[in-house]
Amino acid sequence: MLLIETRDTEEMSLRAAEQIAALLTLKRDAVLGLATGSTPIGAYAKLAQWHKENALSFRQVKTVNLDEYRGLSPQSPDSYRWFMNHHLFQHVDIDMQNTHVPNGLAEDVREECARYDALIESLHGIDLQLLGIGMNGHIGFNEPASTITLETHCVTLSENTREVNAAYFASKDAMPTEAITMGMRPILQARRVLLVAAANKRGIIEKALFGPVTPEVPASLLQLHKRLTVVLARS
Ligand code: PGA
Repeated sequence: MLLIETRDTEEMSLRAAEQIAALLTLKRDAVLGLATGSTPIGAYAKLAQWHKENALSFRQVKTVNLDEYRGLSPQSPDSYRWFMNHHLFQHVDIDMQNTHVPNGLAEDVREECARYDALIESLHGIDLQLLGIGMNGHIGFNEPASTITLETHCVTLSENTREVNAAYFASKDAMPTEAITMGMRPILQARRVLLVAAANKRGIIEKALFGPVTPEVPASLLQLHKRLTVVLARS
């Protein structure tokens, strides 16, 4: 594991964006696993800026996002599809056909989960998976549990996640109770994992990286990954 501690969140975003840009420079057609939430916003802004400055192209890049709320349409500003379009895809030269987010409106959720796993497989897996971490140690929406789920699946969001993420919605009641999330297999099989965390996550980062490996702290499974980079802000 490579642990990069940064002075603040601005430097955290810069270091994370550099890791992604370096990969895209070496491998123009990389498959990026992307994340939503407040943590990656600054890194996405940096990538957009470097694209604007003609320093970075996403023309051949393919992306797969970790998760999506169930019941939200891609047009909903609360959906993760909207988040990705707004924070990254609209600002770079990516082919929108090459951007993938689970379909929160799928009627047959099992079919949608199977489709998503088959899609990741057809892309030959993920070159770099970007991750934030939940206060409870979740990655994507792989919530603390007694067992690991390897496949893409539908989850009931934990009380903790609902409380934390309610801030993004008009009220806690307006927030979906379920989501579709990539399972642990494609995350752990990603050729590189980039875990990014602001200073308020220091406690859970320490638990995840140096505590016991357990599905009760899903991010602790990343200890088993051979090429894990963690960017953690000090303040
Ligand atoms: P955050 O969410 O970036 O908004 O803190 C991270 C997560 O819940 O995975």
